[in-house]
Amino acid sequence: MNINLHTLRQFKASGEKFTCLTSYDATFAYEASSAGVEILLLGDSLGMVLQGHDSTLPVTVKDMAYHTACVKRGNQGSMIMTDMPFMSYSTPAQAMENAAKLMQAGAHILKIEGSAWLSETISMLTERGIPVCAHMGLTPQFVNKLGGYKVQGRDEQQAEQMVQDALALEAAGADVLLLECVPSPLAKKITESVKVPVIGIGAGPDTDGQVLVMHDILGIGAGRRPKFVKNFLAESGSIQGAFKAYVDAVKTGSFPSEEYSFS
Ligand code: KIV
Repeated sequence: MNINLHTLRQFKASGEKFTCLTSYDATFAYEASSAGVEILLLGDSLGMVLQGHDSTLPVTVKDMAYHTACVKRGNQGSMIMTDMPFMSYSTPAQAMENAAKLMQAGAHILKIEGSAWLSETISMLTERGIPVCAHMGLTPQFVNKLGGYKVQGRDEQQAEQMVQDALALEAAGADVLLLECVPSPLAKKITESVKVPVIGIGAGPDTDGQVLVMHDILGIGAGRRPKFVKNFLAESGSIQGAFKAYVDAVKTGSFPSEEYSFS
């Protein structure tokens, strides 16, 4: 079955949880897609996990287009979501030019990081046939403004602002929202306040879908593991088994439990 925006809206309406997993090449895209992962995220996290940078900032549109084309070749019917990298959508005109390249490489939906200031860009893209996911909360391209990779929306004022921003982005035409590292009660409130599907990472169990970085669920790579990461390979013994265990845990609601969430 081919997953598209309509399928995601049906998941939200029926309450069935869906999964998203980062994917950067044809082989892993094939494995994740055949394991039932509904969305393959061509994340700019590739700057860290593939290229070895200490942030996502050095990633280019050319990098993203190349890896999107690789993922497309291995994909078995999942939806391909591609990140627009740092400073590739700083004006609506720049966003349109770069978005065209990523869609032509094989993306079905593009993800951009920010808040209500993205409204004009989102309207321009979506009105021209490009679905958009708005990534809010901890937005890694803003690491230098945020002062590190920290949970966002902990104080009441910041939390209320995030709810207002989510409503503004939905009104502008965003098709999907993604919340990274926000307290579970805030993620629940946003998920219930908007009609579009909401995907969470480190955002608790109440979002409509979950996303994780593939290397994290396989327990590979250097550095500190964030609280919301679970190694699914450890319990399943094979890569395909780990992907299936992740899908199963999200569908049955056993992941993410409190242990993997921020209260
Ligand atoms: O680039 C990425 O992998 C992401 C996820 C962390 C959501 O944006």
